[in-house]
Amino acid sequence: MPNSLFETEDGSHSLFSEQYGVSYHSKYGAIQETQHVFINAALRFKAVIQKEISILEIGFGTGLNAYMTLLESTKRNLAIQYTAIEAYPISMEQATALNYSTLLNNKSSQAHFLQMHSSKWATPLTITEQFQFIKQQIKFEAIDFENQFDIIYFDAFAPNSQPELWEATVLGIMYKALKKEGVLVTYCAKGVVKRTLKAVGFQIEALKGPPGKREMTRAIK
Ligand SMILES: C[S@@+](CC[C@H](N)C(=O)[O-])C[C@H]1O[C@@H](n2cnc3c(N)ncnc32)[C@H](O)[C@@H]1O
Repeated sequence: MPNSLFETEDGSHSLFSEQYGVSYHSKYGAIQETQHVFINAALRFKAVIQKEISILEIGFGTGLNAYMTLLESTKRNLAIQYTAIEAYPISMEQATALNYSTLLNNKSSQAHFLQMHSSKWATPLTITEQFQFIKQQIKFEAIDFENQFDIIYFDAFAPNSQPELWEATVLGIMYKALKKEGVLVTYCAKGVVKRTLKAVGFQIEALKGPPGKREMTRAIK
């Protein structure tokens, strides 16, 4: 089923998934949400103590999280190993229409953004000196990493549309994939999700959410 492109309140684009009946980002601002939940609460949080950081992204989608991480790695001279998981990729045509590099005043890096979208599955790619990228076309349920990542960007569609991705089986897979003291962040702050994160072994912090959301969650192994 097709996705439709729309503009969120900070002017950045997002997609609405007809298949899942939900949007890829907060309607209050896609860029603002990524900055707040993934860059500030996870990447900058970890970058205080280490400059080499491995990241697992749950849901590559539009590539916005990956792209803003790439920009941050250049800005702060971080060495990032980025692994993105996505079972249902968007089309190249749709990726090309997204306005992220224009809004982030980084027109020259549009080529890097598109490179991530057009890259071959399961093939490591050096995008810049600081940013190594690989994407895998598999389902989240099939992930099998162990003690490998410093950060997980857990960016699945919300529990209302895909409840099975927020249950102990998948969150346990995430726990296993992280290194000790690894950090999982999500925009979701539902009580049942926080309880499940605790049940699989995480320590939980409730943080202030991005615009339009009271809370988000940071979970530490
Ligand atoms: C909220 S969107 C991700 C947004 C993305 N992080 C971004 O920056 O645009 C969730 C993504 O998960 C993907 N997805 C949904 N169910 C999946 C599954 N079971 N396994 C793998 N990917 C899945 C969707 O295709 C969608 O791209």
